[in-house]
Amino acid sequence: MGIIVSMQEEVTPETKARDARIGEIASRLGVRAERGRRFAELTSLRVGGSIDWVLMPTTEDEAAAVVGALSEAGVAWRVLGAGSNVLADDGEHRYVVLSTREIKGEARFDGERVSVSAGFSLPRLCVEAARRGLSGIEGLGGIPGTVGGALWMNAGAYGHEIGQVVETVRVARGGRVVEVPGSEIKWDYRRTSFKEGELLLGATLKLAPDDAEQIKARMDEAKQKRFATQPHGARSAGCFFKNPPGSGLSTGRMIDEMGMKGERRGSAVVSPVHANFIVTEGEDASARDALALAEEIRERFRREHGIELEYEVEFWGAESKSEEKPEGEEQSREKEK
Ligand code: EPU
Repeated sequence: MGIIVSMQEEVTPETKARDARIGEIASRLGVRAERGRRFAELTSLRVGGSIDWVLMPTTEDEAAAVVGALSEAGVAWRVLGAGSNVLADDGEHRYVVLSTREIKGEARFDGERVSVSAGFSLPRLCVEAARRGLSGIEGLGGIPGTVGGALWMNAGAYGHEIGQVVETVRVARGGRVVEVPGSEIKWDYRRTSFKEGELLLGATLKLAPDDAEQIKARMDEAKQKRFATQPHGARSAGCFFKNPPGSGLSTGRMIDEMGMKGERRGSAVVSPVHANFIVTEGEDASARDALALAEEIRERFRREHGIELEYEVEFWGAESKSEEKPEGEEQSREKEK
């Protein structure tokens, strides 16, 4: 597999040795490696700086072997799916991005169960399940992400959360694929007990048989609601903040009532359609603008409502992963910062 090099960076003996290690792992395992990519190309917000290495395994086994080898070699890595819930800062990100996009395969249905890999498209899975008369995920049909990303943060919409239907999750451990029962995972509101440093490879979902027409009708209704109330086609990462937990309050409605729709910081705008969406505009859009706008919203929210808004998107700092961390060390989720 070819390695595409186009990034200009300072080459020290240490970086050279590290790059050689990563290149060797990629070619030994037959995994496509790219250099010179930017988060601006790989995330839906279309902002974010350069990425040191992107590795793109195509199977679950390959992915498990790659992260096992990287960890053994002391190379920091981080998992990116569709990039639809990530705000990566504008700096130079000196870690390996393990992209799950090519770990797609087919969704394998067996009675009420479906086994699917992390890179599989969530909307496509919802359509295929509906077509087979299987209910439980039709509310998720409009979420523009991968199955892996949905599992990672327990994606939810219109009464469904993916964690509710997970029978087992396949996780990379020690270079191998390990199956973990869904009941051993904590599935909270947009949060799970998976830890950074764990790569989710796929899952088996257990769905419930129902009338295919009715499932499709519910899925279409959810999609229409989403279409009418959320920006589409715009560059966003979905809802930027969580709703205040356990309160029944909607952060979007409250930001709207604070009069902030259309508020702008450079290339970042509070969506005029749904106030909990930040959208970016222009070729030179920056993460700095999006973050400045987000912090402005949080500041006003704190002042006016006495509530500390929690990020729903993950913030990826360029610096935060550049230090090697021992395998298994618990790291706080970036979005909780
Ligand atoms: N509203 C406004 N103005 C706004 C936005 C909303 O008045 O700018 C009002 C709506 O009219 C509605 C209420 O607020 O009466 C709630 O709005 P919505 O139905 O859009 O729900 P939400 O709480 O804002 C949550 C999720 C969405 C998910 C929808 C539908 C969070 C943070 N957001 O939004 O998830 O799609 O419910 O289930 O939990 C995401 O995770 O990225 C996301 C967008």
